[in-house]
Amino acid sequence: MLGEEKAYLLENRLMPIVRRYELDSVETLVSKLRAGTSPGLGDEIIEVMTTNESLFFRDTKPFEQMRSASLPYFQNARASKRKLRIWSAAASTGQEPYSIAMVFGEEKEKFQGWNIEIFGTDLSREALARAKEGIYTQFEVQRGMSIQMLLKYFGKVDAKWQVNKEIRDMVKFAEFNLLEDPKKFGTFDIIFCRNVLIYFDKDTKTKVLNRLAKVLAPDGVLFLGAAETILGLETELQPIPGMRGAYGMPEAMKVEGVAVS
Ligand SMILES: C[S@@+](CC[C@H](N)C(=O)[O-])C[C@H]1O[C@@H](n2cnc3c(N)ncnc32)[C@H](O)[C@@H]1O
Repeated sequence: MLGEEKAYLLENRLMPIVRRYELDSVETLVSKLRAGTSPGLGDEIIEVMTTNESLFFRDTKPFEQMRSASLPYFQNARASKRKLRIWSAAASTGQEPYSIAMVFGEEKEKFQGWNIEIFGTDLSREALARAKEGIYTQFEVQRGMSIQMLLKYFGKVDAKWQVNKEIRDMVKFAEFNLLEDPKKFGTFDIIFCRNVLIYFDKDTKTKVLNRLAKVLAPDGVLFLGAAETILGLETELQPIPGMRGAYGMPEAMKVEGVAVS
């Protein structure tokens, strides 16, 4: 059951669509959606229901930990392949995958000649369209980013800022619903899945996490959001000692260097 606050939120977001289709209630809207007679209605509902709030280097810590612990580890562990695959699984308007790309920008010399794939996916087409453009307002770039990083990795486009081409080219975007199986994407060394599990119920969270675990390299790292935890969920994933908000497979805990301590 939805709490009163969530029911209000649901109604608040859906009522404009209810009115546009000249329906009398949210219930009728749901029936119309189920009937499948209105192409595009599902997409419209997705756009109003998803919260796309994001910012560059959100919560700082995961990006610091990736830079100070995970990258030195992978620089050794993947030295023969010289390839790293990173997935931002709820990329929203792009701030998260571009922050990851900027971390690599800062570590450029160490990864010279490496194939670094950064993959950003989201359910929302509108968010992805903005992400691909990589254009942000002054307000958006001021949140979470230093002026040095802004000047180094962005260019001015009228009153806004665009992520420079080198960083944009490092990230590939695609539409993907986390309720589906991601195995077609192959294996990732690092997965960011942040501030999206909070919208799912316990069973869905468990299912999503276990699917992510299947596409995580045995020594890979999964970063969840600051308010998210695996506590109480049935999953093989375990917190990585010394790294807040980072999880890995049981085998990873035995591998020297995966964790900070
Ligand atoms: C609050 S944003 C988080 C963005 C970013 N990860 C961050 O932490 O700043 C949540 C994102 O999850 C996406 N989302 C919601 N449900 C989803 C699903 N089932 N599959 C994929 N993305 C989903 C939304 O479209 C939205 O862009």
